[in-house]
Amino acid sequence: TTHTITVEPVGREVECEEDQTILDACLRAGVWLPHSCTHGTCATCKVDKLDGEVDLGEASSFALMDFERDEGKLLTCCAKPRGDVTIEADLDVDEDMEVYPVDDYIGTVTLIEDIATETKRVVVELDREIGFNAGQYMKFVVPADDAGGEEVDRTWSIASPPGESTALEFHVRNVKGGRGTDGWVFSRLAEGDQVRMSGPYGRFVLKTGDDRHAIMVGGGTGVAPLKSMIKHALGDGEYEGEITLYAGGRGREWLYDVAEFRELEAEHDNFTFRPCLSEETAEQVSAAGEDAQGYGFGMVTDVIAADHERLSGCTGYLCGPPAMVDAALKTLMSLRLFPRDIYREDFFNEA
Ligand code: FES
Repeated sequence: TTHTITVEPVGREVECEEDQTILDACLRAGVWLPHSCTHGTCATCKVDKLDGEVDLGEASSFALMDFERDEGKLLTCCAKPRGDVTIEADLDVDEDMEVYPVDDYIGTVTLIEDIATETKRVVVELDREIGFNAGQYMKFVVPADDAGGEEVDRTWSIASPPGESTALEFHVRNVKGGRGTDGWVFSRLAEGDQVRMSGPYGRFVLKTGDDRHAIMVGGGTGVAPLKSMIKHALGDGEYEGEITLYAGGRGREWLYDVAEFRELEAEHDNFTFRPCLSEETAEQVSAAGEDAQGYGFGMVTDVIAADHERLSGCTGYLCGPPAMVDAALKTLMSLRLFPRDIYREDFFNEA
């Protein structure tokens, strides 16, 4: 059975299957709706229901509270229609973004390699071209396993810039016991394998119409979407502003693509790279025969605070584990960056 979803205030109508979420139907039809986790936990996709019946699905009680349910709010990433439905969404936050409809893709793994401790690079050649905004992510289908685990979805940010080719790059950090990481990427997945995925998703995108100094902070594989943004901005993205990337790790073996970012830094006057080590000292780096220059020592937030007296007039792009993102947000705000100029993407540890 198919139902019609009317999205106000734009008045767009979208057909939605009874077992399909409202978000999925809209994104596939090229009608943008705000979203982030797509799993009922972040509340980014909360909208008002003006009319109709829905099954609220697996919305968590934190993301959608009881009184909000009573008021007719719903999470579009969980809710499925039980008749024609009209919703009202706050769309203005993302209006300067290109909308690329979500679609299904099949890809072949062409490269899978260790790039840092518990971290792999995976490159997938898609069956056809894909349009996306630098910073967006894909949703992979993790196949069922022999131990009886059913098919699940896992999301990873695209680390390669848009428009480059049909090959997409991903960075995957292992989570012990994680179905998508430990149980798949780090054990079963091999070069030559076919994978299924859909996308692009997400609203963590580089604002290319901007030329303010972008302060980017990535913890662990939080560097992935930032790498896509940086390569896009320095390539044909026509980003005139300055970009500084802070990449945080405990020691050098937790960081990756340092040489590639150093090369970009040498080629582009407007790009600065600051790898930050929280558990290694300049003496240790030098003793290992490496140039300690350029490294920051300490927590990323401390290095940022030491580098800048004020950051007013800049923008912030933060990506990584929620605790790191929260800490970086506080640091940027204490340096006079407005919350509305700070964009964040949280990597939750469900992988
Ligand atoms: Fe996160 Fe719906 S709750 S996108």
